[in-house]
Amino acid sequence: MSQHPGTSASSTATLYDRHPINADQILLTLQQEGKDLDRLRPADLRPHDQDHYGGEAAVLDLAAAAGLQDGDRIIDICAGVGGPSRLLAEKFAQARFMAFDLNGGRCRGASRLNALVGMDRQIDVVQGDAQRMPFAENSLDIALSQEAFLHIPDKQAVLNEAARILRPGGRLGFTDLVAGPALEDADRAALEAGMEMRTLQTVPDYMSKFRAAGLSLVRHDDLSPQWVEILTERLEWYRAMDAGTRQTLGDGVHERYMDDYETFVGLVQAGRLGGGRFVLRKD
Ligand SMILES: C[S@@+](CC[C@H](N)C(=O)[O-])C[C@H]1O[C@@H](n2cnc3c(N)ncnc32)[C@H](O)[C@@H]1O
Repeated sequence: MSQHPGTSASSTATLYDRHPINADQILLTLQQEGKDLDRLRPADLRPHDQDHYGGEAAVLDLAAAAGLQDGDRIIDICAGVGGPSRLLAEKFAQARFMAFDLNGGRCRGASRLNALVGMDRQIDVVQGDAQRMPFAENSLDIALSQEAFLHIPDKQAVLNEAARILRPGGRLGFTDLVAGPALEDADRAALEAGMEMRTLQTVPDYMSKFRAAGLSLVRHDDLSPQWVEILTERLEWYRAMDAGTRQTLGDGVHERYMDDYETFVGLVQAGRLGGGRFVLRKD
């Protein structure tokens, strides 16, 4: 794992220090299920290591929409504990992956999980800020990201960076929360204070930022109806994790996270927040 200088802890990074999806939690759960941690396969991790909405199918759909081919050079921007990279690395054995994330604990967790399933040579883990990525221009074929731009204050900066590091004709495919017309300033303030979700974009906001970055829209899909269902189930899943998280995160940490998570899911259920999948091509 490499660390890009200047990526000290921020409040977003701190949020993910107390997130219920982490390598310790995953390994504890697998142990409780009776798995031998010295003989893990990528598929054993998958029920636990995908920190986005829609699980494996969402990763495969996004990769297909972006036109990912075996042999491509791929970056997962804001890769979390590396679940999407491992899933795609198993399917596309000749492709090379870079799992890039701000949070040090998640990067260490991703490296540990990659090594446990023998994928540390196909996936590099790099810690850094997506608003300033330490990669050469025109150096990658595909950039993917799921449920993460919502944390990034300067959306134009991350889009500009993705466009810079992609080769001409390369594609960026990402999914993100989108603000609906009924999202109020008070909702935005609550999401920022509790969940580090900031500068949420409407679809037209995103469209003008794509143009400014030199990215042409290939397709946009409204994911809002699916996300209401998924998030309602996910809330129940997180509630059920209570006992395990006490052991891995400490008392009270999970309860505080859950209060904020319930506010967020309520806004999605009320239709004030939705989801979108965007595929862009570098001009
Ligand atoms: C909801 S998780 C998504 C993880 C991963 N995409 C997945 O689907 O499993 C959001 C991730 O964004 C990362 N993140 C937030 N702000 C970032 C930034 N400025 N640069 C890089 N990563 C960032 C967080 O550390 C977190 O791991």
